[in-house]
Amino acid sequence: MTGSNDASEPELAIQWPTPHSEGEAAKGWPRLDRALRLGVMASGHGSNFEALVRACRGGPLRAEVVQLVVNNPACGARQRAERLDIACRLHDHRDHPQRQELDRQVAATFAASAVDLVVMAGWMRIVTPVLIGAYPGRLVNIHPSLLPSFRGLDAVGQALAAGVTLTGCTAHLVEEVVDAGPILVQAAVPVLQGDDHGSLVARIQAQEHRILPYAVALAALRLDSRPAAQTAQG
Ligand code: GRF
Repeated sequence: MTGSNDASEPELAIQWPTPHSEGEAAKGWPRLDRALRLGVMASGHGSNFEALVRACRGGPLRAEVVQLVVNNPACGARQRAERLDIACRLHDHRDHPQRQELDRQVAATFAASAVDLVVMAGWMRIVTPVLIGAYPGRLVNIHPSLLPSFRGLDAVGQALAAGVTLTGCTAHLVEEVVDAGPILVQAAVPVLQGDDHGSLVARIQAQEHRILPYAVALAALRLDSRPAAQTAQG
């Protein structure tokens, strides 16, 4: 039996395995002792944010997205949060020329919501040790390449320019080197003849929406028992 989600965007209509029930994990998913409180950071469209919410609501991820943080007032993620009834806080990077100060504000918002784990779901800012140190082993990023290939900006363009026939996406824990850190889950995506940037991005993103919730579940297994509210004090 599979769970399903309605989706106006076809790439979000994922057939998840049977949803979790109290004390029981969906087939192939790790068993989490308690429901996680998730914080999500997004700068743009927000499809990964919504995929996470859907994986929690009637899907196999035993978690709740309790707080979204955006850095861009006009971003699609903010509109999705409103539709999905999830608290959204704007921390505009233009108000914080120092990266550390932006990260301090973001960490404080998540601490106030007592989140266990934070997901960078298309956060287009480099994060500093302020945030990484507040959520050690609890900060997950999604990147549109098979790391360690094509780090940094426009990974899909880099893959097309390099002429690779296989690329994909990676969910990993965040460390201080950009687009590095322990890999949690990867998905491979073939580059097809005639692919352009848009078509390849679309197929990679469809895989991101599948692997990111699973990566969150795997990251949760690695969590120690310290409450996030304490670790977020630094
Ligand atoms: C994703 O492709 C992700 O890999 C990258 O930014 C994109 C965000 O897309 N870091 P969305 O905002 O989740 O739709």
